[in-house]
Amino acid sequence: MLFQAATIVAAAGVVAASRCKPGTTSSSSTIGWETVYTATGTAAVAAAAATARTSSPTSKVKGKVFDRYVSIWFENTDYAKAIADPNFSAFAKQGITLSNFHAVTHPSEPNYISVVGGDYFGMQNDDFNQVNINVSTVFDLLDHKRISWGVYQEDMPYSGFEGQKYVNQKTGANDYVRKHNPAVIFDSVAHFEDRLSQIKNLSLIDVAKSQFHQDLKADKLPQWMFITPNMTSDAHDATITYAGNWLNLFLTPLLKDKNFMQNTLVLITFDENSGYALKNKILSIALGDAVPQHLAGTTDDSFYNHYTELSTVEANWDLPTLGRWDVGANVLQFVAQQTGDKVRKWDPSYNFEAKYFYNQSYAGPFNTKGGLHEYPAPNLELDHSASGRKILDSIKKTWRGSKNPTYYRDAIEVNDGLNPPAGYAV
Ligand SMILES: *[C@@H]1O[C@H](CO)[C@@H](O)[C@H](O)[C@H]1NC(C)=O
Ligand SMILES: *[C@@H]1O[C@H](CO)[C@@H](O)[C@H](O)[C@H]1NC(C)=O
Ligand SMILES: *[C@@H]1O[C@H](CO)[C@@H](O)[C@H](O)[C@H]1NC(C)=O
Ligand SMILES: *[C@@H]1O[C@H](CO)[C@@H](O)[C@H](O)[C@H]1NC(C)=O
Ligand SMILES: *[C@@H]1O[C@H](CO)[C@@H](O)[C@H](O)[C@H]1NC(C)=O
Repeated sequence: MLFQAATIVAAAGVVAASRCKPGTTSSSSTIGWETVYTATGTAAVAAAAATARTSSPTSKVKGKVFDRYVSIWFENTDYAKAIADPNFSAFAKQGITLSNFHAVTHPSEPNYISVVGGDYFGMQNDDFNQVNINVSTVFDLLDHKRISWGVYQEDMPYSGFEGQKYVNQKTGANDYVRKHNPAVIFDSVAHFEDRLSQIKNLSLIDVAKSQFHQDLKADKLPQWMFITPNMTSDAHDATITYAGNWLNLFLTPLLKDKNFMQNTLVLITFDENSGYALKNKILSIALGDAVPQHLAGTTDDSFYNHYTELSTVEANWDLPTLGRWDVGANVLQFVAQQTGDKVRKWDPSYNFEAKYFYNQSYAGPFNTKGGLHEYPAPNLELDHSASGRKILDSIKKTWRGSKNPTYYRDAIEVNDGLNPPAGYAV
């Protein structure tokens, strides 16, 4: 395959974008591509930082309910502990508490990839994983409608950094980690220079060198963004009190900033809970000026999971779908009321209470244990889903005729490791 420079970043599987690094030719880019942005040594990072591209595309595509979507992810906290923190509970009072929201598995990385890719492809580890280029993501859906997006990672050294981690250069402490960066793990993102340039940093210590704060100041924040605090700020290596305080420091000023609040929906959430034997229930809070005032301080106990982030964005902007778990996922109720989506309840025959814990992964290409290792194909039958939204054309083109199994359904009852799809038991 040739990777010639072309104009528009197309969907995964359709090769039509500038894949080459600056200064390389298409024939030499493949080798360079694997290593240029992954080195973690100080000198290599400085060298790559000097040439790495940053871009801040903007757009103003009207949504049915919100015009901007901001997802902020914290780490490893049980629901009860999170809602008991005074800062998290203060934010809950300003918005809607989503009291029945679940992660999809353990550990971190598969949860992060699920929120952009519509599945975790059997992943049960936090390794240096790369999802095959023919797997599409929310970024393809957003680009299709020309909705600007950006991913902001606290303390990532430069835009598009692909390394496994970047420690605090003074203390050596955990800081930025790839496993919490959902975009970079997909080759359909990482193999395109334009897309890498939209994966940027955020810093509360060095605001002048924080891409997030520069974009904010210039009124160049995108319409869809994903924010990952560093390993201390997100409660991974610190207490929930520390994370709550970080959220207060970061978000409170933004909620009063006109460059941020532009009919904005903020989703505060966690990747997973901490108790592996418990149901993987996490705290999520929906707030921002897109949430109607009369809903502030209310609770919504509808069933949601990470795929809700996809379905809600798809419903809001009338995007096509990925043909995976995004299709059946409940749309946030206050959004669904405007978009006409039906918020579903679990079919009692599944016995959700007793059987589903979402605390371990089913098999797949990233599972280092047993079961099928084939990528599941998107379910092209889901072109006729209850929502009426169609699968992105380029996805249909890539996967039509594929012999790979598929297990996605137009339903909220997503499989988990204890109830795996046929063939995907570990
Ligand atoms: C953030 O990324 C930019 C662009 O790559 C880089 O110039 C800057 O030094 C980074 N900021 C910090 C605090 O590392
Ligand atoms: C993470 O960011 C916070 C500021 O948000 C900073 O105080 C802390 O030192 C950073 N953690 C590390 C390990 O650098
Ligand atoms: C947020 O956390 C900080 C530090 O723990 C605390 O001082 C502050 O009172 C908290 N804010 C609220 C609204 O409780
Ligand atoms: C998931 O939870 C069930 C029920 O508590 C338990 O039997 C199972 O061992 C858990 N899985 C893991 C990986 O902890
Ligand atoms: C996707 O990529 C994998 C690995 O390169 C390949 O085995 C598979 O056939 C591809 N599937 C489709 C539908 O392109």
